[in-house]
Amino acid sequence: MAKQSDDIPLVTGHTFTHNDFHHYSEMNQDRIYMDYNATTPLEPEVIQAITEALEDAWGNPSSNYIAGAKAKALINQSRESVARMVGGRAEDIIFTSGGTEANNLVINTAVEHFRRNYQAAKQGEGDHNGDMACLPHIIASNVEHDSVKLVAEHLQKSGKAEVTFVPVSRVTAHVEVEDIMAAVRPNTCLISVMLANNETGVIMPLQEICQRVKSLNKQCERFRILLHTDAAQALGKIRVDVCELGVDYLTIVGHKFYAPRVGALYVNGPGTKTPLYPMLFGGGQERKFRPGTENTPMIAGLGKAAELVTSNLTDYASHMQSIKLYLEQQLEAVFGDKIRINNHFPGSDILPNTCNVSILGPGLQGWRVLSNCARLLASVGAACHSDNVHRPSHILLSCGIPSDVAANALRLSVGRGTTKEDVDAVVEDLRETVQLLEEAR
Ligand SMILES: Cc1ncc(COP(=O)(O)O)c(C=O)c1O
Repeated sequence: MAKQSDDIPLVTGHTFTHNDFHHYSEMNQDRIYMDYNATTPLEPEVIQAITEALEDAWGNPSSNYIAGAKAKALINQSRESVARMVGGRAEDIIFTSGGTEANNLVINTAVEHFRRNYQAAKQGEGDHNGDMACLPHIIASNVEHDSVKLVAEHLQKSGKAEVTFVPVSRVTAHVEVEDIMAAVRPNTCLISVMLANNETGVIMPLQEICQRVKSLNKQCERFRILLHTDAAQALGKIRVDVCELGVDYLTIVGHKFYAPRVGALYVNGPGTKTPLYPMLFGGGQERKFRPGTENTPMIAGLGKAAELVTSNLTDYASHMQSIKLYLEQQLEAVFGDKIRINNHFPGSDILPNTCNVSILGPGLQGWRVLSNCARLLASVGAACHSDNVHRPSHILLSCGIPSDVAANALRLSVGRGTTKEDVDAVVEDLRETVQLLEEAR
């Protein structure tokens, strides 16, 4: 069994089921994929865009002749499409290898920016900040993805930053704005809160956090607190608009919205309005913020997937929402009191595709149920941070889910093509599996 990560479904060795208009590659048609928060297959139009780019736009985008110009034009078209998806401008999009890189780029930028400001202040340009602690301070929620959490922890351990992980409320499962504000210190340089959680689907109050922090920033523009959200799980599921949110940075992860494994970082005026310092040094690509010859075909695929989201988000979201609702209803109908839905929290909005449930009872741990299912492909809760799938998810525990319930959790995330027939089959699969496990005790 594979070590679990958010990119690796718990059960490996199988591919997706065939369903309606999607023609995902199928090795085993009996399997039903409900792990769309781990990764998504590529849309056929995306595959087509990638294939065309591989064939027709293979030139180096920095070359001045036609093959290069073609590649460059395609990249710029994708930049426009990705920008449109998040309500930003093309010049605010920096292509990256994925979400992990984008998140690292933001956190390292914030620390570097603080260091430069602090040095300038020390040299007498900002005496009023003379009492400021010399280490930058980062605030994040305690349910962030490892690509935020571990970077912050690494900086903390190596003595380069102070970090506060603000716990989510055990009632609402989102960070409370007041708790974020209470964590702010004079040396706070960055607040990084994900837009939606990958395990619970809980949507965080980013707009309110940004509004509050911006009014605080007005009092001290020089040392303003930078605002970042990791929107990996939100894109393609809910509307995401950088202006409405008020963020400085937003992480975009292709493989969560039917695009290939590349990503992008939205930066509100990179290097002008908002600092951005490269982690890599090399050629002048991406205005030197992210050098390296561009991966034209994958960027083309990202752009096509973004176009699809922009045009079809309402349909995608309402389809997933109705399928998720049907899934929850069927689970309740079949399992009655034995089912516990873990991600219904008072006062919280949840992603339309994410269902987190536990089937209560001894010997029904999530990993055990999943590894005995004949058809269902899904994850247990503790996706990306778990070296040990046998331990309950720390995310669920943080949200107030009791340990014995969290141990049995299954994260069932549906996709654009999931049907009611898939749901019926999955619920039946779970019923048979649970019966089998109970009889075996
Ligand atoms: C919330 C969140 N952030 C970041 C990432 C990392 O993105 P990538 O896999 O592109 O590095 C993921 C994917 O697993 C994620 O779920």
